[in-house]
Amino acid sequence: MISLQTKLKNLVLSNPTMLASGILSETSGSIIAAANSGAGAVVTKSIGSVPRMGYPNPTLIELKFGYINAMGLPNPGIDEFGKEIKDSLGCGVPIIGSIFASDEKEFAYLGKKMEEYGVAALELNLSCPHAKGYGMEIGISPEIVGKIVSKIKDEVQIPVFAKLTPNTHQLIEVAKAVEEAGGDGVVAINTVKAMSISIDFKRPILANRYGGLSGPAIKPIGIRCVYELYDALEIPIIGVGGIETWQDAVEYLMAGATALQIGSAVRKKGLGVFRSINNGLTRFLEKEGYSAINEIVGVAHELS
Ligand SMILES: Cc1cc2nc3c(=O)[nH]c(=O)nc-3n(C[C@H](O)[C@H](O)[C@H](O)COP(=O)(O)O)c2cc1C
Repeated sequence: MISLQTKLKNLVLSNPTMLASGILSETSGSIIAAANSGAGAVVTKSIGSVPRMGYPNPTLIELKFGYINAMGLPNPGIDEFGKEIKDSLGCGVPIIGSIFASDEKEFAYLGKKMEEYGVAALELNLSCPHAKGYGMEIGISPEIVGKIVSKIKDEVQIPVFAKLTPNTHQLIEVAKAVEEAGGDGVVAINTVKAMSISIDFKRPILANRYGGLSGPAIKPIGIRCVYELYDALEIPIIGVGGIETWQDAVEYLMAGATALQIGSAVRKKGLGVFRSINNGLTRFLEKEGYSAINEIVGVAHELS
C-alpha cells in the first residue's frame, strides 16, 4: 500500500497537492470543488483588511508557456471573507488562509481573524510582484519578514507558512529570517516579475504594465529555489511553480519539497489535475519500490 500522506509540522495532508492561492480559491463553492477533486489542502485567495477592486483590465495574458497576471489582489476584505471560510470548513481537507498586509500589526490582525474563522494554517503573501506597498516590496527584506513572522507567531496557535518571492538575490536570507522567527514552513515560489508588449498598440499589454509570470516557464526557477532552500533550512518547504504533471511533482519532491501547490495548471486543464498527479505519484512510487512519498523528498541531494 503506497502512502501519499505528508506532514507539514503538525498539519497532516492526505496527499501532497494543494490548490495555490488566487486560482479558483475566492469562494466557498470553488474551495469545496477543489477539495472534492482530490487536492490535499486548499489555499485561499490572498485576503487583506479592506475590500480591494484590483487593477483594471487587462489583468491576465495567456502565453504559450504560462500566464502573466497583475490582478492587483482583488478581494472582498477579511470581514466579508469569513463567510466563505465558514461555509468551506466541512470540505474534508485543511483550508489555509492566505493574507497580505503592509506591516506586522496588520498581518497579526488578519492572522487572528483567519484563525477565528477556523483555518488550519496561515500563508503570508510576502511575494506578490505587482501590488504597491505589499507582497514582494516587503518580502525582499529579511529584517521586515522576520518581524512579521515573529509578531504573527506570538498571536496565533496555527502553523504559519511564508510565501517567498524569487525576485531577489536574498532568497536564503529571507527564508532563514522566517525560520529564525519561528515560521513553520516556506512556500516557494510566487510569480516571477515580467511584462509583455503589444506590437500593434506599441505599449505594455497589462493595465499595470508589470505582472507575475506563472506556469511551465517558471518551473526550473521554482525547482532551483526549492533545492537551495532545502540545503539551508530545517523547516518544510512547499514547492510551487509550473507543476502540471506527476513528473513535475516528483521533480519538486526530489528537490526537497514536502508538499506542492498547483495554480496555472488548474486554470488551464481544470480540477482533474489533482487526481491525475496523485495517481501518477502512486504509480511512480510503486514502480520504483518506495512505500511512502516522504521517501523521495530531497533525494536529488544525496547523489550531488
Ligand atoms: C491569476 C493568478 C492569481 C494569483 N493570485 C495570488 C494570490 O492572491 N496570492 C498569492 O500568494 N499568489 C497568487 N498567485 C500565485 C500562485 O499562487 C502561484 O504562486 C504561482 O502562480 C506559481 O504557480 P503556478 O505556476 O502553478 O501557477 C496567483 C497566480 C495567478 C496566475
